[in-house]
Amino acid sequence: MTAPISERLEDADAARESGRRKMDWAAQHMPICDALASEFEAEQPFEGERIGMAMHVEAKTAILAEILAAGGAEVAITGCNPLSTHDDVSAALDAVSGVTSYAERGVDDDEYYAAIEAVIDHEPTITVDDGMDLVAAIHEDYPELIDTIVGGAEETTTGVHRLRAMDEDGQLDYPVFAVNDTPMKRLFDNVHGTGESSLASIAMTTNLSWAGKTVVVAGYGHCGKGVAKKASGQNADVVVTEVEPRRALEAHMEGYDVLPMLEAAAEGDVFITTTGNRDVIVEEHFERMQDGVLLANAGHFDVEIDLDALSDLAVDSYEARDGVQAYEMADGRRLNVLAEGRLVNLATPIALGHPVEVMDQSFGIQAVVVRELVENGDAYEAGVHDVPDRLDKEVAEIKLDAEGVEFDGLTETQAEYMDSWQHGT
Ligand code: NAI
Repeated sequence: MTAPISERLEDADAARESGRRKMDWAAQHMPICDALASEFEAEQPFEGERIGMAMHVEAKTAILAEILAAGGAEVAITGCNPLSTHDDVSAALDAVSGVTSYAERGVDDDEYYAAIEAVIDHEPTITVDDGMDLVAAIHEDYPELIDTIVGGAEETTTGVHRLRAMDEDGQLDYPVFAVNDTPMKRLFDNVHGTGESSLASIAMTTNLSWAGKTVVVAGYGHCGKGVAKKASGQNADVVVTEVEPRRALEAHMEGYDVLPMLEAAAEGDVFITTTGNRDVIVEEHFERMQDGVLLANAGHFDVEIDLDALSDLAVDSYEARDGVQAYEMADGRRLNVLAEGRLVNLATPIALGHPVEVMDQSFGIQAVVVRELVENGDAYEAGVHDVPDRLDKEVAEIKLDAEGVEFDGLTETQAEYMDSWQHGT
């Protein structure tokens, strides 16, 4: 049985202090979570609820867990990726009253799933996932808990994809909100968050410049758009690969080169996958790449770059830098993989994940969604649900208020006009 992180660290006190500092820094820049924390502390909406979480355990996520606990919940949390946990933050979180953290960086598959089970042992009444691992484990191995689960919330595109597939198969037995799909999350977190943090993480890990590089972005969805735009803003030439005709056209009209990966493979200096799909960069692409290319993945799972094929092709492989594994081909070319092909903005040794302000929005939505489940959970049947627009707007208004931004409202006449069909030419 996995023990909480504090029982496994050699110097837990020092870790807690360092983690707490990181959390305090994040909290200073999270006005939405701060406002919700005050509400939750006063009203204790989560009294009696047990919230199970599987998320990237770093400072911003820790603030979300902390405000849920401040609202009366018992929170148990672990990671949603073996490389994205900050152990010091995990230890600081474990010291928060009402929170138990099992997350640890660098765990193997068995330890990763043992920690998921440790969270489920708390018999959660609400699940908060990033990638759907908790929902999957509960449905597969602990179906007896489903009756007492009010509902769940899912953070990312890949998790929502998996949930919708499960729902279509008639296999999803409790309601889950698609937090990822709200404007307040997706248009900021996926676009700006992934763009900024992926590029920052790659630059810091490699100490290389973007200027003059050809950056191949696989997938021109929300994340891909952010990565392409920010790379272009750093003076890189951007090439986009796509499988969806309208997205390919959108990239073309934005002024990017759009190419099949087979052609892009020969041109790129840096490759960043953002598809949420598998086998996006495979053997035939590796064979055409130039010496020294960087290969990074920003999609949820580590299946976008075929590392098995790369390993098979390589005559030698070694750690070129912390967080960079070089694969040397028979002809001498070196292909460099960052963060073992896992989420590059979260899994390199120096990765910090998205900027704090962006996660304040995403986690503001998570928090109000958990509140909605507690207040109105009975109104939602098993299946995937869109987050009600009123909740998304509530979070946007808190943020605008915190930023001191005033905006207009509709007059009565305008509201009536917008709702009517009678007014024509
Ligand atoms: P999206 O659905 O908006 O975009 C994905 C795009 O990839 C689509 O346009 C699709 O047509 C394209 N695509 C699919 N297969 C492809 C292939 N073989 N080659 C080229 N293009 C292909 O999804 P979104 O929101 O951009 O998310 C993408 C991935 O990033 C997901 O796995 C999601 O969970 C993850 N994500 C990662 C974050 C991070 O912090 N790194 C943050 C948010 C999401």
